Amino acid sequence: MPAIELTDITKSYGGPAAVGGVTLRVEDGDFMCLLGPSGCGKTTMLRMLAGLETATAGRIAIGNRVVDCPATGVFVGPEKRKLGLVFQSYALWPHMTVARNIEFGLRLRKIPAAQMRAEVAEVMEKLSIAKYADRYPSQLSGGQQQRVALARMLAVRPDVLLLDEPLSNLDAALRLEMRAELRRIHEEFRTTIVFVTHDQWEAMTLATRIAVMKDGLLQQVGTPDDIYARPANSFVARFIGNPPINMIDGAGDLGRSLGGAPLIGLRPEDIRLGHGQPATVRSVMPTGGSWMVELAVGVERLLHSTQTRPDLRAGQPVLWSIAPDHLHHFDINGSRLQRTPQLCHA
Ligand SMILES: Nc1ncnc2c1ncn2[C@@H]1O[C@H](COP(=O)(O)OP(=O)(O)OP(=O)(O)O)[C@@H](O)[C@H]1O
Ligand SMILES: [Mg+2]
Repeated sequence: MPAIELTDITKSYGGPAAVGGVTLRVEDGDFMCLLGPSGCGKTTMLRMLAGLETATAGRIAIGNRVVDCPATGVFVGPEKRKLGLVFQSYALWPHMTVARNIEFGLRLRKIPAAQMRAEVAEVMEKLSIAKYADRYPSQLSGGQQQRVALARMLAVRPDVLLLDEPLSNLDAALRLEMRAELRRIHEEFRTTIVFVTHDQWEAMTLATRIAVMKDGLLQQVGTPDDIYARPANSFVARFIGNPPINMIDGAGDLGRSLGGAPLIGLRPEDIRLGHGQPATVRSVMPTGGSWMVELAVGVERLLHSTQTRPDLRAGQPVLWSIAPDHLHHFDINGSRLQRTPQLCHA
């Protein structure tokens, strides 16, 4: 039984659909990242899951219970969905200590006091915030506050945790720390998590599966590996990967030599130097532990990235190649072509 099942879910606010017919299964124990550019409908999806928004059409089931189905008039309110929510602004009660903040959710459920204290202590221990139990939120750093917000959610033992860019207002170092924390929480609590982000790197490092969205439409669902190695279309190929994939027009000289699909993608890290076709080095850029080399191949430009310091200068001729199974071929609409391309050059 999937933890969450969305069937042909549409949300329209009057204009073009914010979410347009999304069908998606989140399996029990999944860490599912909803990934896509600003305005693609991620928050709208999460709000519908939470019950803060009703779907215009379609069906949402959580566990074996239908919680939203406009066609049959079913709608289960947010408080009855047994979900934990952490949004970007994770408001803690400023006049309550950390421990009291965490107790808050439990107290609403009228649990015996001794059991409540034990549960609060356990979750504080797991999130390494026991030492802050008696502090007030204003006496904590942003990352510590975020951990308290997570602890407050986890204390209620939600079946599903919904997170909307919960790390977006943290600095880079704290984000890394909190990502590791989230992974640990997921492994330890086995909670099903739906996590919204527009940061592809965050999605790649956290998710068991990623759902890529664009303009309210689902583009691809798969493991991080799948999405990176077999992007379903040119949008996904461009959205995932840093530095971004090289896209070559199949009608040009280079495109024809690479198998002649309408659009051909080459990841910078898949390009090898040393043998193959001729190119000229245009520039070499250090990026801290790795290097980017811009190549001119006829009229085309290709980015190559490497972990070893390249001994190259601008203007220098080089030879380059790419393994045929690393080429991504797309049709005129940008959809992935499955055939294995044949290289014309060796
Ligand atoms: N209450 C609303 N009324 C009208 N339009 C809305 C409403 N909420 C969202 N939208 C529109 O729906 C679309 C999707 O918005 P949503 O907030 O889901 O995007 P998002 O993917 O979360 O973006 P971001 O990454 O910027 O948070 C946008 O075009 C937005 O303007
Ligand atoms: Mg959003």
